[in-house]
Amino acid sequence: MIVLGIESSCDDTAAAVVENGRIVLSSVVSSQDRIHARYGGVVPELASRSHIEAIVPVVDEALQRAGVTLADIDAIAVTQGPGLVGCLLIGLSFAKSLSYVRGLPLTGVNHIESHPYAAFLVEKGEEKEAPSFPFAALIVSGGHTTLLYFEDYTKYRILGQTIDDSAGEAFDKVAKLLGLGYPGGAAIDRLAKEGDAAAISFPRPLLGKGNLDFSFSGLKTAVLTHVRGLNGPPDEARLKNIAASFQEAVVDSLVTKGLWAAKETGVKNLVVAGGVASNSRFRARLEQMASTEGLKLFIPPPKYCTDNAAMVAALGTCQLERGFLAGPDLNAQPTWEGF
Ligand code: KG4
Ligand code: ZN
Repeated sequence: MIVLGIESSCDDTAAAVVENGRIVLSSVVSSQDRIHARYGGVVPELASRSHIEAIVPVVDEALQRAGVTLADIDAIAVTQGPGLVGCLLIGLSFAKSLSYVRGLPLTGVNHIESHPYAAFLVEKGEEKEAPSFPFAALIVSGGHTTLLYFEDYTKYRILGQTIDDSAGEAFDKVAKLLGLGYPGGAAIDRLAKEGDAAAISFPRPLLGKGNLDFSFSGLKTAVLTHVRGLNGPPDEARLKNIAASFQEAVVDSLVTKGLWAAKETGVKNLVVAGGVASNSRFRARLEQMASTEGLKLFIPPPKYCTDNAAMVAALGTCQLERGFLAGPDLNAQPTWEGF
């Protein structure tokens, strides 16, 4: 089955063509980072307008790069939520129209649930082991920090999530206050490589045994308080130490709870996805923990960690195979029960 995936839940317009729920024939992502950078965060109205301009060219490019036409597409999967309502509606309206005029089956996908499906993706001709069920999934993005337990395809339950900021949001807010631009996760990652992670002791909240929720807003405030307490702006060396110490606090919380989730559910497979999963220190610490604890770790390559439509098509294919079909009344779900 060849599925066209469409994603527009936040600030990336994405389309992908995926075969049999795994083989990526194409994955096109049009990022709006440049549009939102001057505001230091996503401006919903600007994001919606940008999706309107990008959606047709992005889908066109995805078809072209895959070497297919609409006649080769068997079904459409589109992100239904959670996300910004104006943004979701652009992808949904486009997908519903295309489904209607071409007579193609349609399915609506939960964006958060779709992130771990990035771990199933392979390039054409690539051999890679897929995660086997059951597994625990840690989804760490700009919008969410969530632990899920996957019993089987399309069957999951929430184990824990952030009670305030997401980890990506913490990276972006700290980057902003350090003057590193937006989005700042990758900049902190680079800077931290040359810093001392033990230089400053930042808080690691909610590390009470068994608690699978996260909290990052106190950490962000602790960094702000630390910077304000300095005599003037931090010099380069100090900046590197702040970046490394902050990053280590986030990574500690994430790695600890990823392990606890696996232990609590008794699974041997851990999937980690979302934009923050491209962080080099996080990946290294996860590898280390997995080898010590005897866990099998699945982290998609960075291009499938950040938002993309290939993961939407992958989950969409599983839903279509199980008969989860949507009609013209498919509506956006900006908030999704439980998330
Ligand atoms: O999954 P994603 O592309 O979008 C959302 O669904 O939100 O995640 C974006 C987030 C941003 O907060 C960005 O700063 C963060 O991922 N990010 C990183 C790195 N690359 C992207 N955070 C830490 N280290 C990185 N290398
Ligand atoms: Zn995402």
